[in-house]
Amino acid sequence: MLKEQIRQLAAQKHAIILAHYYTIGEVQDVADFVGDSLALAAKAAKTDAEIIVMCGVHFMAETCKILSPNAKVLIPDLGASCSLAESCPADDFAQFVAEHPDHKVISYVNTSAAVKAVTDVVVTSGNAREIVSSFPQDEPLIFGPDRNLGEYINSITGRQMLLWDGACHVHERFSLEKLIALRREHPGAEILVHPECRGAVRKLADVVGSTARLLKHTQESPCQEFLVVTESGILHQMQRACPDKTFIPVPPDDPGCACNECSYMRLNTLEKLYQCLQTEAPEVVVPEDIAQKAVRPIERMLEISEKLGL
Ligand code: 13P
Ligand code: SF4
Repeated sequence: MLKEQIRQLAAQKHAIILAHYYTIGEVQDVADFVGDSLALAAKAAKTDAEIIVMCGVHFMAETCKILSPNAKVLIPDLGASCSLAESCPADDFAQFVAEHPDHKVISYVNTSAAVKAVTDVVVTSGNAREIVSSFPQDEPLIFGPDRNLGEYINSITGRQMLLWDGACHVHERFSLEKLIALRREHPGAEILVHPECRGAVRKLADVVGSTARLLKHTQESPCQEFLVVTESGILHQMQRACPDKTFIPVPPDDPGCACNECSYMRLNTLEKLYQCLQTEAPEVVVPEDIAQKAVRPIERMLEISEKLGL
């Protein structure tokens, strides 16, 4: 019922509903488009909708606004922040950049618009390797804010990028011990790991990749069982695409926790989505001076990604 009302309101108001893979299943089911952060940014850049509702977190809504400045951008809950974006305050990052004037600056999309404004090119986990590799091998680079993703990209590209010391509280919490125990119980399962996880966890992976890459792998692999080491919302699409396969969410360290959830993503409920469409609030805006600087590194990312077919 609520789902139908949401769809009706969206149609009346020429609104598009975008949802990240980490949102709850029923929000994903009502959305026009579900994707990883790269696909969501690409979608926001191309839409002609009058309203974009971003069921994700705040930096994703900011990215939509920067790429589609004429659209009204809404977010069901303004409290949907991101611990990784918060681990990189814009003033501190700008100072770090100023201290290394010979370095080009690469920022993960999980950053505030103000951080993107002092960045040369934005990346997501879906294109970080390729975009970093597009710089000459001897060009000094800063990478922020995720130290785990930065370490991973350094390890696969042979770079020594200077890393900002930030992290995601969800991906840092995965339990190595529980993963090892699950691997023992399910010796035939493939281990799928998001690159925001700690190095010790990543080392056990059969596949390291963005949410979209991990999802695609589950559809292409002949394997029947998977241990999934990223936010458990992704299991909704994995299970939907492959109902006969088994997906086991790897738990965090916290005792009694069966799976690992991003509390910010979970703030997106059907009720709040309905309210937000009805009242056209809360709206996400980006100050003009920041948007003007932040748009270039995001568009640069989208151009490179499109050229490389990512
Ligand atoms: P993706 O780019 O893989 O969608 O990841 C976004 C994110 O927030 C990971 O924690
Ligand atoms: Fe941010 Fe981590 Fe949540 Fe992704 S899972 S939105 S990085 S807090």
